[in-house]
Amino acid sequence: MRKQRFYVTMMLACAILGARADEGMWLLQMMEEQYLVEQMKKQGLQLEAADLYNASAPSIKDAVGIFGGGCTGEIISPEGLILTNHHCGYGAIQQHSSVEHDYLTDGFWAMTRAEELPTPGLEFTFVEKIVDVTSKVNALIENDSISVNESLSYAFLDKMAREELQQSEYDGVPGVEALVRPFYAGNRYYLFFLKVYSDVRMVAAPPSSIGKFGGETDNWMWPRHTGDFSMFRIYADSLGNPSLYSEDNVPLKTPKHLSISIRGLQEGDYAMVMGFPGSTQRFLTRSEIQERMDCQNTPRIQVREARQEVLKKEMAASDKVRIQYAGKYASSSNYWKNSIGMNKAIVDNKVREAKSEQEARFAQFAAEKGNEEYANVVAQIDEVIAESSPVTYLRMAFTETFMMGIEFGAPYKVMDSLKVAIKAKDKEAIERWGNQLRQSYAQIHNKDYDHEVDRKVAKALFALYKEMGLELPAFYETIEKDYKGDIDRYVDAMYDNSITANEQNLEKFLKKPTLKAIDKDLAVAFSRGKWEMYNEISAKAVPVREKLQQLHKTYVRGLCEMYAPAPKAPDANFTLRLTYGTVKPYSPKNGVSYDYYTTLEGVMEKEDATNPEFVVPEKLKQLYAAKDYGRYALSDGRLPVNFITTNDITGGNSGSPVMNAHGELIGSAFDGNWESLSGDINFDNDKQRCIVVDIRYVLFVLEKLGGCKHLIDEMTIVE
Ligand code: ARG
Repeated sequence: MRKQRFYVTMMLACAILGARADEGMWLLQMMEEQYLVEQMKKQGLQLEAADLYNASAPSIKDAVGIFGGGCTGEIISPEGLILTNHHCGYGAIQQHSSVEHDYLTDGFWAMTRAEELPTPGLEFTFVEKIVDVTSKVNALIENDSISVNESLSYAFLDKMAREELQQSEYDGVPGVEALVRPFYAGNRYYLFFLKVYSDVRMVAAPPSSIGKFGGETDNWMWPRHTGDFSMFRIYADSLGNPSLYSEDNVPLKTPKHLSISIRGLQEGDYAMVMGFPGSTQRFLTRSEIQERMDCQNTPRIQVREARQEVLKKEMAASDKVRIQYAGKYASSSNYWKNSIGMNKAIVDNKVREAKSEQEARFAQFAAEKGNEEYANVVAQIDEVIAESSPVTYLRMAFTETFMMGIEFGAPYKVMDSLKVAIKAKDKEAIERWGNQLRQSYAQIHNKDYDHEVDRKVAKALFALYKEMGLELPAFYETIEKDYKGDIDRYVDAMYDNSITANEQNLEKFLKKPTLKAIDKDLAVAFSRGKWEMYNEISAKAVPVREKLQQLHKTYVRGLCEMYAPAPKAPDANFTLRLTYGTVKPYSPKNGVSYDYYTTLEGVMEKEDATNPEFVVPEKLKQLYAAKDYGRYALSDGRLPVNFITTNDITGGNSGSPVMNAHGELIGSAFDGNWESLSGDINFDNDKQRCIVVDIRYVLFVLEKLGGCKHLIDEMTIVE
């Protein structure tokens, strides 16, 4: 391997200097090896590799981090100010909202530091350093200390991360965590040292009529007119160390923040995105794509549709429910629509046909190399898939219905312990488990839970699951036997009479807990049946996953060899990546072409006061009428809103900085386009676009609508 490297390198240099592709969520630590900087410079980059990623001095990567659990954010002032998407801040905005303080509807603008809202549970995570640990893991596999499957298991990866942290210079450093992740299906391993800040406060959010303008109708679509941004701030102790919320904490002084360019952009301009793409599967076989369509996307679409129909009605009928279910509805709908779009795009973009071609080419490559392993691997994957698809379908339908769709249930394990205590007449244990039960009760009946809404969801989903004709969990027998198949009556009995149905029932039971009450409790039986079947299905999925992991390790290695010297990027796995491309329009279909940017005119065109998704706030209309856009206007006087680039992003990149050739911030990435929703499994150079909120729209809304000039003054703005 070593010896070949020089040749490969030479060939690589020659080959890619000619090529031009925007595909690739590249690893910063592989930039040199993959000749990315040369390529980026060719496309317009004015920086050096060390400006992007440098383990020993401040670089752009120090201004980019994980926002919350699944988004990206960037630092835009020397005082820890974070820019991310509105839909990334959504959970926090909702958390702070009530019918009285409805920040979802009205927006939120902190006028002073004291007004910035502590948001417990919200974290911001920086990447400190990245280390290649491939040879360490390979050594363990080679001397049989671990199997390939183990090397890909969280148990192993977490253990290795713990050990590496202990042996590193970061041991004991506040807030630093280690993470080990496989890349290229286990052909590479990297160790990440992360620094996690846990006092993050809410600073600014536009009203949803700007931050989520277009709602679900426009989601995953271009042309777009959404001000999808929100702002937060990192606080730390006086030494700049991560610390839980404290009044004494101060805004974090970060070593690096992004400058902001309001000079504007043109078609063809260089653009790059740094962030944390969650997951892609670009190395699947045709059979796996078919399975994804039929056994994952299809049941997901079906179950979510049924639940969303209920939620939508209930949310429209009550402001309280609307706020409670805002986040749940948005996240359900997001990948419901994505699944629909993906199935359509796979067909329209002929993704399966492309994979067949790839497989034919790979067969030829394997034959030429005389490599048996490569020659057989696709057929072996196909075989596993043929066998496992029914389980995949069942698992998806079951999870979407009972694990994610219906929230109500009872902690049956706590109930089992309580039974033991009751039998033993152990007063202390009865009391202890009773309190545990109260806690579990509070977890289910939380601030964002409405028992009546959940009851309606349960009725719809129990019925749908039965219609799907799949293997039934045990409680369906009870429905047949005791309720003559009447699902509604069974659900009502469970939601009315079970111990955990309401506080009254709970306290009545706890006054005199009996075995009989637990044994006949419908929610206890429901939860037990649910978890038993879930565990059974999951167990069936383990050998399938293990076989596929091994086969994919071979297949991905083979494909990379086949495509060499052109480099392939590893699949996304929520680690730090860079993608580079250009600002570019596209043609979604014959005879139709889309501009690369939108303006406020489009917001006004879409306005529909009768549709909550397309309401335009009064203040915005006034500013539009007065054309009061300040320095954020285009040269023709219009106000830019969104634009598109060819950058390769996916979920998790939301909130990522979109930067120009100088590394200055020009926007925040927030979505992908409908015609390329097959992009997670196959990148389409002609059609895939990254949808970005123009930084000038962000600053305009912040300043003119939010009155937050003080925040603008913190930033470094390049005019
Ligand atoms: N599609 C966007 C993403 O996955 C989320 C947009 C959220 N907006 C919405 N209307 N649900 O990043």
